[in-house]
Amino acid sequence: MSAKIIDGKIIAGEIYREIEAELQELKSKGITPNLTVVLVGDDPASQVYVGMKQKACEKHGLGSETICLPKETSEKELLQLVEKLNNDPAVHGILVQLPVPKHINSKKVIDAIKPEKDVDGLHPINRGRLAVGDNCFIPCTPAGVQQMLIRSGIKTEGQHVVVVGRSSLVGLPFALIMMQKKEGANATVTVCHTGSGDLKRYTKEADILVAAAGKANVITADMVKPGCVIIDVGTNRVDDPTAKRGYRLTGDVDFENVKEIAGTISPVPGGVGPMTIVMLLKNTIKAAKQLSA
Ligand code: GUN
Repeated sequence: MSAKIIDGKIIAGEIYREIEAELQELKSKGITPNLTVVLVGDDPASQVYVGMKQKACEKHGLGSETICLPKETSEKELLQLVEKLNNDPAVHGILVQLPVPKHINSKKVIDAIKPEKDVDGLHPINRGRLAVGDNCFIPCTPAGVQQMLIRSGIKTEGQHVVVVGRSSLVGLPFALIMMQKKEGANATVTVCHTGSGDLKRYTKEADILVAAAGKANVITADMVKPGCVIIDVGTNRVDDPTAKRGYRLTGDVDFENVKEIAGTISPVPGGVGPMTIVMLLKNTIKAAKQLSA
């Protein structure tokens, strides 16, 4: 039997309806949450992601600005911009789209963002707070994956969650979220990465498998336990001469074959993607609230 599909658009829609009231309350006090996104260079995928973030803010009544800088922008210039945004009271959330060009040290840039405006949850202060379970900004994609599980009625407590990928944006923070002794978490977590060797040895054991390796079709049908839950975080461009743009987006999971084995699965596109964006807006509203308290 084919797996049940988790629709990220429907779940994101639920969250948009919930944040509407918070947004109206802030607006009644004269505060419009504002997100400023900084994009350096002309990476086509980043341009698409940044455009989606800007559009979502506009559609849902948040203020937003996208600052596009040429790929030659120096690290010093970018740090100066971050400092300016840190000190601008009209800006509540700052997101520097990654990756930045190679001559810029991304860690230096992230570390320069005021933790109170770090709606991406990438600053070491927010990472540390997440690790110890304190109030913080949680990176949007793993926060979105947790919401997908909770709102789909998938129990995590006592389950074996296997995460493929240890990235700072997804794999690592998701593992930290899942191992916390909290509702919607309290799982036993295994993190696999490029040094793990035989992935199948671990993925076969997963009750919940989160694929965040950034590689198309890395999870195949023989690697999953029948009836398991699979969340596909991958967004990989693969050549497709039949597609309008000459490529199509695909996840890390061989969806067509894996859906015949898994019990529940999220597709790409239409799975995690919409969740990342709604969580970013939610974090921006949280930042505006905290900064104006
Ligand atoms: N590039 C791809 N995803 C993300 C994200 O969530 N945040 C940032 N800053 N860059 C990204």
